[in-house]
Amino acid sequence: MYKAIVRPLLFLFKPETAHHLTTALLKLFYKLPGAKALLHRFFHYEDPSLARTVLGLRFPNPIGLAAGFDKNARLVDEMAALGFGFVEIGTLTPEPQKGNPTPRLFRLREDKSLVNRMGFNNEGVAAAVARLRKRKSAIVVGGNIGKNKITPNEKAIDDYEACFHALYEVVDYFTVNVSSPNTPDLRALQEKEPLKHLLLHLKNLNQQKPKPKPIVLKIAPDLNNHQLDDIIDICLEIGIDGIIATNTTIEREGLKTQKEKIKEIGAGGLSGRAIRKRSTEVIRYLHQKSGGHLPIIGVGGIFTPQDALEKLEAGASLLQVYTGYIYEGPSMLKKINMALVRQPLQEQTSF
Ligand SMILES: Cc1cc2nc3c(=O)[nH]c(=O)nc-3n(C[C@H](O)[C@H](O)[C@H](O)COP(=O)(O)O)c2cc1C
Repeated sequence: MYKAIVRPLLFLFKPETAHHLTTALLKLFYKLPGAKALLHRFFHYEDPSLARTVLGLRFPNPIGLAAGFDKNARLVDEMAALGFGFVEIGTLTPEPQKGNPTPRLFRLREDKSLVNRMGFNNEGVAAAVARLRKRKSAIVVGGNIGKNKITPNEKAIDDYEACFHALYEVVDYFTVNVSSPNTPDLRALQEKEPLKHLLLHLKNLNQQKPKPKPIVLKIAPDLNNHQLDDIIDICLEIGIDGIIATNTTIEREGLKTQKEKIKEIGAGGLSGRAIRKRSTEVIRYLHQKSGGHLPIIGVGGIFTPQDALEKLEAGASLLQVYTGYIYEGPSMLKKINMALVRQPLQEQTSF
């Protein structure tokens, strides 16, 4: 039904319009009497074998909503009703910002991929906090934090700190995003020294809190092995709780979409099918090199149960989806979870 009717209709609209339309309709529908039960009946799949403890948090199933879909924490209860095991909100910045001029989100249909250069468009951390205070569901929520565009990298730490303090009471874990390609120079914060400085600072702030929350680092798929080694060393040394691998790529190799179209679209991060392989490679590398000591949240190009299994087998403890959800629709989670129950991994690590 989604692929035959809903998706063709939605794909008549520009991608960002389709996103706003779908989420507005979902919010409206959710308010109707009985809607929550209906969503639950169609899209939830529960089985005790799907539940796992990672980062010291209990997840009913391993599939979460990746950052960027619900930047402003408007859809947490709705996504819980749709069967997600957790939701990551953000990326949030201290001050609201508009992001890049539109159009800034593009479909590469032949590649089942997207290119975005949203640029952290968000309503600012305070607006998200106010919404999270009112949420009804008990779903695990991650707060993905970043810096405002106008904040220079030398002051980036202040932005992450402001978001950390603001969100501390209302999220279950934090994601430090230094890997978006759409904020100028942000990815320079992935370099050894600035990264160490930032993570150490956040770790210290966290330890001063009555109940420290897990902090994970989200990385780009474009890092080489040497840079990945540095990241593992830093995370293990500082005691960062896990890694999200990966964000979108700036690479455009191996796409089926015509070169002229890709050129016309221009800069941005590529997500979806086109990054599946690379993101799994990064997960496998991190898992092997860290000796399995760093929990990994695997994200990038998950569409099918096979894709999910591939990432779990490579060493991911949890998964996230974004682009696959757009192309496959809401029944995707149930399909994956059912397959995971049928074909459990030999070894399930609990962190
Ligand atoms: C439109 C769009 C916006 C995104 N915004 C963010 C963001 O704000 N912060 C972030 O950490 N990742 C963001 N991402 C990256 C996703 O969270 C995810 O890491 C990436 O898309 C790979 O997963 P996928 O192939 O399942 O989409 C965004 C992705 C898309 C497609």
